[in-house]
Amino acid sequence: MEMFVNRRRELRVLEGALNALGKGEKFNVAVIGPRRIGKTELLLKFKETHEEGAGCVIPYLNVQRTGSVESFKFAYLRELLYEAAKKRGFDAERSKLVDWDGLLVLGAKLGVDGEVTAIKRGSIGELFELQEEILKKLDLKAIFILDEFQDTVRFPNFLEIMRSTVEKQKAVAYIISGSAVRMMEKILSPKKPFFGQFRRLYLGGLPKEDSIELAKAMLSGVKVSNAALELIHRLTGGNPFYISAVCRRLTEEGFERVGSREVYVAFLTELLSESGDIYSHLDYVFNESLSRAYKGAVHREILLILAREEGLTLSEISERLGKPSGEVSNYMKFLLRTDLITKENNRYYFTDKLMRFWLGKTYLGITELELRREKLLRELIGELEEKYLKARTELGKAVEFMVREELGKRFGVKFEPYRRGDVEFDGVAFGERTYVLEIKWRNRPVGAKDVEKFARRAKSEFGEPVMVMFSRSGFTEKAREVAERLGVVLVGDKML
Ligand SMILES: Nc1ncnc2c1ncn2[C@@H]1O[C@H](COP(=O)(O)OP(=O)(O)OP(=O)(O)O)[C@@H](O)[C@H]1O
Ligand SMILES: [Mg+2]
Repeated sequence: MEMFVNRRRELRVLEGALNALGKGEKFNVAVIGPRRIGKTELLLKFKETHEEGAGCVIPYLNVQRTGSVESFKFAYLRELLYEAAKKRGFDAERSKLVDWDGLLVLGAKLGVDGEVTAIKRGSIGELFELQEEILKKLDLKAIFILDEFQDTVRFPNFLEIMRSTVEKQKAVAYIISGSAVRMMEKILSPKKPFFGQFRRLYLGGLPKEDSIELAKAMLSGVKVSNAALELIHRLTGGNPFYISAVCRRLTEEGFERVGSREVYVAFLTELLSESGDIYSHLDYVFNESLSRAYKGAVHREILLILAREEGLTLSEISERLGKPSGEVSNYMKFLLRTDLITKENNRYYFTDKLMRFWLGKTYLGITELELRREKLLRELIGELEEKYLKARTELGKAVEFMVREELGKRFGVKFEPYRRGDVEFDGVAFGERTYVLEIKWRNRPVGAKDVEKFARRAKSEFGEPVMVMFSRSGFTEKAREVAERLGVVLVGDKML
């Protein structure tokens, strides 16, 4: 599929990093988002659009494709020199850059063979330090893209070493990217070396217009109702990989007209039958997440319990499993290190609700044929709408985590998610006064009604709390007036 839709806002952030580097005010960016959401595509689009520009090279390296630290060092330098050579008008051939000899020849052509030799003999520290020398000699700057950055945790002390050079360098800025949301958060968190050095860019699903544009392009020649197009967006959450899977399935079925029903069937088939792409994807993520689990079978069992019944406490899980809670507590610790589950108020939930739905259903062994039975189909659709579509996304959680953390610092409190029966708040902090936080992460400004509703809910639960509302896309004039009147503190997004 050769088609790229939108991501204008995200591209602007990356372009901001490029311009800032040129002006000597560099900043780095961390692109964080779930698997298959379009991170790599975005990074490559950015590279393709800007690599012709003067004075700056944009090397790209997927860390997952490198083995040891040594091979990382080699591949990193190879990409840097390759891009620099292109910029200088040499035709460097990749096939000649398979070993250090090849790099040395190219280094000599560029007049940086001394640095290349030193890097070859040295460690990662030399690599990061000498790249600055190389770039200075060549009068170039670099935006270095490191995809699947979380894989660098395999390299001993890598983050500390990189950090000690990143801070002081003028010629290089980084765009790092990763799908292990929790691990990326950890790498960037206050106790780790990179805290404060990266702007976080959370990548979520495509906005509705873009999902629809993509779906239309993929379904060209088929008559598709508007309701069907909107449903594709809603079911897939704008995940471009899911959109492609559903559209391909619809095309293969050879429908002349596509309405909501066809979309439901195609989506459920992609999700629940072994021939589906969404199925294979979730299966891969599930198994990969569990692959490091020593007692895989028990971990799986726990996840199945949570797929059936979410929001259980440790003792409830222990009871269902018939094992002591001390032992189960260790399993839960492991599971929390994967991105599969989250803990809120001592209860455990699936991070990705679609994963939960998938797991629960695939263990029932539903076949493609059965999906055509009206009764089962209607049941599945009902459950999908009820349990999965209403829930928040994995990305939503990561965003909330960040906003809670940042605003907590600002107000000097610690916000935690709050849930009591049906009442939920994005963040609450108890102390001398109670603070309540509402997070709106949408593409349009928050309006007066939203503010009123939040104030009403917060007051009925907590009396006279300090009310804080955060919005990614700002607030309407009316919303500001209402907030002033009701005493709600509004916070706009300065982080991006
Ligand atoms: N903006 C877009 N427009 C059209 N298609 C897109 C867009 N972004 C991504 N895609 C398609 O979605 C699929 C997943 O994208 P991509 O590989 O970039 O995801 P990713 O986030 O890097 O995934 P992973 O975490 O597995 O590396 C690809 O087939 C890609 O072509
Ligand atoms: Mg990728």
